[in-house]
Amino acid sequence: MSIKTFLKTLICCLICWQIVVQPSTALIQSKYYSYRQPSFDGTGKYYMGREIAQVMGHQGADWLERPDRATEEQPQKMIAALGLKSTDVVADIGAGTGYISQLLAQQVPEGKVLSVDIQPEMISLLQQRIKKSKITNIQTQLGTEQSPELPAASIDLAIMVDAYHEFSYPHEMMAGIVAALKPDGRVVLAEYRGEDPQVFIKPHHKTTQKQIQYEMKDVGLKLLKNESVLPQQHLLFFGKS
Ligand SMILES: C[S@@+](CC[C@H](N)C(=O)[O-])C[C@H]1O[C@@H](n2cnc3c(N)ncnc32)[C@H](O)[C@@H]1O
Repeated sequence: MSIKTFLKTLICCLICWQIVVQPSTALIQSKYYSYRQPSFDGTGKYYMGREIAQVMGHQGADWLERPDRATEEQPQKMIAALGLKSTDVVADIGAGTGYISQLLAQQVPEGKVLSVDIQPEMISLLQQRIKKSKITNIQTQLGTEQSPELPAASIDLAIMVDAYHEFSYPHEMMAGIVAALKPDGRVVLAEYRGEDPQVFIKPHHKTTQKQIQYEMKDVGLKLLKNESVLPQQHLLFFGKS
């Protein structure tokens, strides 16, 4: 092979490698997910037309505990709308520091709250909270990106507060959550309203009701009701279809 032919072949190989190995702007399809160049502050991973948000790191835990959260988000209204029974078993998925788990635990004194998160640092902050406030009915659970690691048919309610849009494997997570529900179990999502320009939250951390319903339908959940009680968030109730 002449040096000229060798160089031509090498250039051709490099071009092909560029196309196959570095498809940065091309759409790569997988069964549930596709990937594109990330938009500003996005992950570049898409699920059913929605770009998945980045996971809020434990370094931002103080934001979950900010003193004006109670007035801004009015979580007490959310807790009241859940209509929990004192014996209920509730899974708080994406529990973070346990701000919501603690409110839930007060409602189910004869039941329990399973607080699931994927960040060990969040779980450790949650455990500190439990110790400090002497709560006896919260169990922490380190989940994975693809599974809440909950036993089948074991929970009355799964709640995700400002967490679902961050799941990097929403399909697998929701399949695990649906499997963990008792036959008449419910799923509740509190998500910042994507339709509302007055909600000043990063775009990927807001979701529309239409999009959530579309994604829940795909995992066999139907909308039971939308409780419009919160100032900034949807409060959507789902049950098995
Ligand atoms: C914005 S924080 C909200 C925390 C809490 N729900 C609250 O309202 O205070 C979202 C949490 O979801 C967690 N998360 C993200 N993906 C998850 C997954 N696949 N399974 C469980 N937790 C997840 C993150 O680690 C983070 O702690």
